[in-house]
Amino acid sequence: RVLELAGAVVLPGFVDLHTHLREPGREDTETIATGSAAAALGGYTAVFAMANTDPVADNAVVVEHVWRRGREVGLVDVHPVGAVTVGLAGEKLAELGTMANSLARVRVFSDDGRCVHDPLLMRRALEYSTALDAVVAQHAEEPRLTVGAQAHEGEAAARLGLAGWPAVAEESIVARDCLLAHHTGARLHVCHVSTAGTAEILRQAKERGTRVSAEVTPHHLLLDDGRLAGYDPVNKVNPPLRTAADTAALREALAAGVLDCVATDHAPHAPQDKDCEWASARPGMLGLQTALSVVVSTMVQPGLLDWRGVARVMSERPAEIGGLADQGRPIEVGEPATLTLVDASATWTVRGAELASIAHNTPYEGMELPGRVVMTLLRGRITAYEGEVAT
Ligand code: DOR
Ligand code: ZN
Ligand code: ZN
Repeated sequence: RVLELAGAVVLPGFVDLHTHLREPGREDTETIATGSAAAALGGYTAVFAMANTDPVADNAVVVEHVWRRGREVGLVDVHPVGAVTVGLAGEKLAELGTMANSLARVRVFSDDGRCVHDPLLMRRALEYSTALDAVVAQHAEEPRLTVGAQAHEGEAAARLGLAGWPAVAEESIVARDCLLAHHTGARLHVCHVSTAGTAEILRQAKERGTRVSAEVTPHHLLLDDGRLAGYDPVNKVNPPLRTAADTAALREALAAGVLDCVATDHAPHAPQDKDCEWASARPGMLGLQTALSVVVSTMVQPGLLDWRGVARVMSERPAEIGGLADQGRPIEVGEPATLTLVDASATWTVRGAELASIAHNTPYEGMELPGRVVMTLLRGRITAYEGEVAT
């Protein structure tokens, strides 16, 4: 059979620094097997599995389960993220050293979903992470400024009577953590940057020499709070969809390298947690299988990034930040291939029911998106080809 490819582009396999795989605990929404399939189909060859599982990945037993199950499935390298605090409770540091020295070799710590709020704990986590050659990835949200929050604090939410999630809740924590990182000399990674103001704080910190990196999600590049009008909880996410001016600033910041990479914050949720009232819906949206297409639509087509730039934000920088020496770079001659083949000129229509995840909460339902992943290879093995995963 002859493959019709009008615009084939080869890229290093994508690396996602921020994936919720939900195992252990919520296998009704995603498992390491189904999430790995979604990742391979999306062009990913490595994902970092967030620690807000049940039980929480705050010890070597849980992180080794995630690591081992990822290797068994074998579609993508699954790197467990370790929790910063015990039970994500923000009271006591988790066993960072044990996790870093375990089989799973944890190199990213995060309480994602919850901010490491206490500045002393954050300082100690940063100091430990330096000694462990790791990074702390902060979910930047001042919880006392987001009590009862339902959407971005601004005009769109006010019109609908939804309580606001102000930009300053994110910006105040990012400013604090940049100062703490600078003071300790540690490396900080800021999760899912969503406001123009945060990008400006990061620009200044980098100019000053602070060792800070940052990610932006596909949904914060494409979607804005105009989507709130229908009250469809598929658009509820934390941090919330911001304004059109924010999405424009985030695209510019990603193009300029102020934001280092794209990370999905892939967050599967059960139907009962999304097909309900806005106020009781859980925040989060699927991202693994649509990320590349959203980047093509928001960055490549408007001329903000070329394909070299796509490799930088989807592969190289996330591999560097996550400490992966074997990913995120061009393959050498004779080396087993870890790569993604993209048809740049193809378009496809997103259907949540056809995605590999157990959950179907995609905000792009019915949208026609550009750029299609044709094939993914991990160390010389085809993991996904033409929309099918290897078995
Ligand atoms: O929207 C989100 N969903 N934001 C988070 O920080 C956590 C995530 C989840 O686990 O569902
Ligand atoms: Zn988060
Ligand atoms: Zn997250």
